Amino acid sequence: MKFRAPGRVNLIGEHTDYNDGYVLPVAIEMETVATARPAAAMRFSSTSNPPPGWESYVLGVEKQLRRRAVPIPNLDIEFSSTLPIGAGLSSSAALEVSAALAFIAAAGFELPAMEIAKLCQQAEIETVGLACGIMDQFISLHGRANHAILLDCRNLAWRPVAIPEGITLVIADTGVKHALASSEYNTRRKECEAAGAALGVKSLRDATHDGGYKRARHIITENARVLSFVEALATDDRRALGELMAASHESLCTDYEVSCHELDAMVAAAQQCPGLIGARMTGGGFGGSTINLVETSEANAFATKLAELYPGVSIHVTKAANGAGRQSP
Ligand code: GLA
Repeated sequence: MKFRAPGRVNLIGEHTDYNDGYVLPVAIEMETVATARPAAAMRFSSTSNPPPGWESYVLGVEKQLRRRAVPIPNLDIEFSSTLPIGAGLSSSAALEVSAALAFIAAAGFELPAMEIAKLCQQAEIETVGLACGIMDQFISLHGRANHAILLDCRNLAWRPVAIPEGITLVIADTGVKHALASSEYNTRRKECEAAGAALGVKSLRDATHDGGYKRARHIITENARVLSFVEALATDDRRALGELMAASHESLCTDYEVSCHELDAMVAAAQQCPGLIGARMTGGGFGGSTINLVETSEANAFATKLAELYPGVSIHVTKAANGAGRQSP
């Protein structure tokens, strides 16, 4: 049995998921495939050269499922992935979700997709110590071809939002991942909780004024930008899309302080490339990738020019893909 689970790129709504806010991610074509066979003992292997310790993500998922009394039999699971590691494209969520689907099916079990997303998120929090939100695991399961998904992280209501024709997603990986990424991530989460408490709200989703807290200002303005962005997609207002992405990047840079020199340089370089609709950093920050919305007719010219302006960039031209599932043999 084979199960595929895609990586993701977030169009807008960054660091809002753990503040009960809105996100607008897309599942991408790069993915992880888990091939599972019955075996005498549990065995995990990978054909894609993952970093040391990768098995802990799989064990973390297994543990979460056993906690929910899923009777997983012994399996030999071979993973293979087209997702780059450390590029901020959720290779870990793809690994977790592909493993979860294999375990659940082998146990003859069924679980709602949102439950699978939650238990994979829990595995990530416990295994890696990253107090992440639900966005990455959610979108790996719920992605839809040619659509982004608007998720309200407060009540987990979601709906697909069509990406207008003629828009191509160009991911530009800076190739850097700064060591402070996960400690700063957890710090931001605490800062948001503290700002929320000072403002007298349960989460920053409910804050209506920032009270001078920069972190709160980012969350308040970013949530508003997600909703405006959904509008702009519906009316195919490419100028508005570009302005909202620029404002999101600026806010992540100045108010939330999770960007870095390389991401800023990549966003700046994109402004000089043909066909750009909008560019911003995507994911947790401190390295990783930018997301560029580009006129499809100019996508190749855009990529060529960006590689000229930012030597060493890894460029992935992709489109919105379907969420995880069983792959026919
Ligand atoms: C990481 C986390 C997500 C989300 C983003 C930032 O990808 O795993 O839950 O918080 O950062 O938007």
